[in-house]
Amino acid sequence: MKRIFLTLCVTCMAAIAWAQVSYEVIPLPRSIELSKKGETFVLGQHAVVAYPAGNEQMASNAELLAEYLRTDADFALEPKADAGKRAAITLSLGLKKENPEAYQITVGKRGITIQGVTEEAVFRGIMTLRKAIGTEGGERIELPYVTIQDEPRFSYRGVHFDTARHFFPVDFLKQFIDVMALHGCNQFHWHLTEDQGWRFEVKSMPELAEKGSVRQQTVLGRNAGIYDGQPYGGYYTQAECREIVAYAAKRFINVIPEIDLPGHMLGALHVYPELGCTGGPYEVWPHWGVSEDVLCAGNPKTLEFLKRVYDELCDVFPSKLIHIGGDESPRVRWKHCPKCQAKMKELGLTREAELQTYINKEMDKYLTAKGRTLIGWDETLEGGLSENGIVMSWRGMKGGIEAARQHHRVIMTPTDYCYIDYAQLKDDWAQPQSIGGYVPVSKVYSMEPVPSELSEEEGKYIIGPQVNLWTEYVGFPEHAMYMLLPRLDAMSEVQWLPKERKDLDSFKARLPRMLELYRKLGYKYCYKQE
Ligand code: ACM
Ligand code: ZN
Repeated sequence: MKRIFLTLCVTCMAAIAWAQVSYEVIPLPRSIELSKKGETFVLGQHAVVAYPAGNEQMASNAELLAEYLRTDADFALEPKADAGKRAAITLSLGLKKENPEAYQITVGKRGITIQGVTEEAVFRGIMTLRKAIGTEGGERIELPYVTIQDEPRFSYRGVHFDTARHFFPVDFLKQFIDVMALHGCNQFHWHLTEDQGWRFEVKSMPELAEKGSVRQQTVLGRNAGIYDGQPYGGYYTQAECREIVAYAAKRFINVIPEIDLPGHMLGALHVYPELGCTGGPYEVWPHWGVSEDVLCAGNPKTLEFLKRVYDELCDVFPSKLIHIGGDESPRVRWKHCPKCQAKMKELGLTREAELQTYINKEMDKYLTAKGRTLIGWDETLEGGLSENGIVMSWRGMKGGIEAARQHHRVIMTPTDYCYIDYAQLKDDWAQPQSIGGYVPVSKVYSMEPVPSELSEEEGKYIIGPQVNLWTEYVGFPEHAMYMLLPRLDAMSEVQWLPKERKDLDSFKARLPRMLELYRKLGYKYCYKQE
């Protein structure tokens, strides 16, 4: 009996020791070389994290590392500039690699070093160290000697979030960005306007957000025809948007704003009905779907309006990439509108679809003159996109393939793999509501963003994949987090790992430590992985 008890204790201790630090995190680093002798470096409470003096981004990196270990593992670190030999962890630049996000972590006799090509790369390395340590700090953390080399496969690693169908508070957006950072993502695609609400403050047109953000009620269920009778609203002030941009920038995440045009515009049409083909009145939609009422392409005021909006948008968001939407814009109103028909005549156009191309090109010229680059959903390719434009392929990969062949840069986000508003469990009626469909973790994991139809040269135009979280059926932060996790874990390996290194079984074996961290941080997640 005694022997069995002793064996159990030894097994448990081994398990605890193993659970404390594991470099096999998500996404899995490219190379992990453990020392064969099994030595460990001991990190004590209040250990010093050194960073180069005078480098604000590196100082912020050190502070963030300390903050993360405090919240994840109740472990205290002391950031210090140029701490020399007192440092247990040293953050440094100077790694010589082509990829600006390449980093190296070494753990040895003299402590831990995270060296990167850039400050951004060091931040990615910090996230790996953070996940390797996990949740169990205690008085000391024993880290096996190791050399880790890593860099991401794709330069664009996106997550989209629709804050227009439902409004999410700024504090939650910060948490959302933290979760993105934890997974090594670098592009937050922020969907700001919709038929169901306009959520971006435009100072020169204050009524746009004040009135355009409010719908009088919301439909229950999946367009059940029954309404809740409760006004619903909320918008982001420019100051709040700047706060989000700054918060994300510290975590080396770029914020790409999207004002969807010319469709999905009832929020704006409600306030300015003269911008629609029929003149309205229009209500901010209380239900889901695609409205046939869109901006009038023949009214010169439409472009004036858009340029005013985009002037302020570009002022608030420094992102080089700006999303103009362009999806799901029916042309039926244009067909019957004298202004739109006159415009077609003036431009010598024969199909209404070309009116959308006309608007896209005008917006593209405008944004290019401001030094920005336009992104559009794959519908924008239909009438031909300007040379510089980037295509976001969502209706499968077809649009992306076509765009890459035309030498446009492409972001791959096909519904079948990347729409995380779909259900993640099959036939499980107890799971929180989704839009339908079925995109389990394993499906996201299986995505290959560069289709085999493309030549090697064409494949280079695929700049990266993205998951999209639409929120018709997601009304609260906890629900949004549940839809995101752990599918973002799967996406992060698609974004980071070379395709030959991906392995679903290995991924599933590494996932429980991430889930443990989510529990510690209070993040909701889907507990089953199909
Ligand atoms: C989209 O899902 N309508 C881009
Ligand atoms: Zn019109």
